[in-house]
Amino acid sequence: MPRLLAVDTHVHLDFEAFDPDREEVILRARENGIVGLLNVGIDLRSSEAGIRLAESHEGVWAAVGVHPHDVAEITTAHVEALGEAAKHPKVVAIGEVGLDFYRDLSPREKQREAFAWFLELARERQLPVIIHTRAAHKETLEMVRRESEKGLLRGVFHCFSGDREVAEEVLGLGFHISFCGNLTYKNSRLAEVLRFVPLERLLLETDSPFLPPEPHRGKRNEPVYLHLTARKIAEVKAVPLSEVLARTTQNAIELFGLPPSLIGEGD
Ligand code: NI
Repeated sequence: MPRLLAVDTHVHLDFEAFDPDREEVILRARENGIVGLLNVGIDLRSSEAGIRLAESHEGVWAAVGVHPHDVAEITTAHVEALGEAAKHPKVVAIGEVGLDFYRDLSPREKQREAFAWFLELARERQLPVIIHTRAAHKETLEMVRRESEKGLLRGVFHCFSGDREVAEEVLGLGFHISFCGNLTYKNSRLAEVLRFVPLERLLLETDSPFLPPEPHRGKRNEPVYLHLTARKIAEVKAVPLSEVLARTTQNAIELFGLPPSLIGEGD
């Protein structure tokens, strides 16, 4: 039987939650067929930490950005610094960036301003953008559309929480969609949305250490649980798990420009 390879396109392995066993977590992922890990930044410090992690580990890449929760104090100088950091060969995306009007931890006006800066940076550099949006789908889509009119902009709406109409708009803009472990939760309406998202536009992610799939709900999430969400996707879309993994891995390679040899390196 071929090894089932997958790419976890959204992890926060630099977080404190992984201080006790970071190396083991990465090794465990690798041993279980997770051939790629994309560490996503939430501020300057975590973006830098992600780059260091990527430098020191084969199969780990980094995205740099500032989460909408953390943009209150951000200036254009910070964005420029991240733009410089993004020149690193293992930086493959801008993220995570976006709008969060659910928790409103930063002033909305500031969130809009920062998100606009990052969208521009992503387009100018031709790097995909990893978008966090919560209770702000309409405005997020509008901002992405406006930036897309200036030139090609690609990316992913991560930890998707919108409805079918939002999903259709995201797909219409040429963006990808990924679901977190909450797809597996009882009473989740996300499976209904997933039915309308073609495999060609799906990515896999855990968002570790957050939102672990069942039966690990309430505990720390880690990349090795990615297969549980992938299994749920296979079930909802009524296709073999191997097809979900092969397609989403190919999607991740294409969107983030990862080496195609990731697939070919099986035993
Ligand atoms: Ni995240």
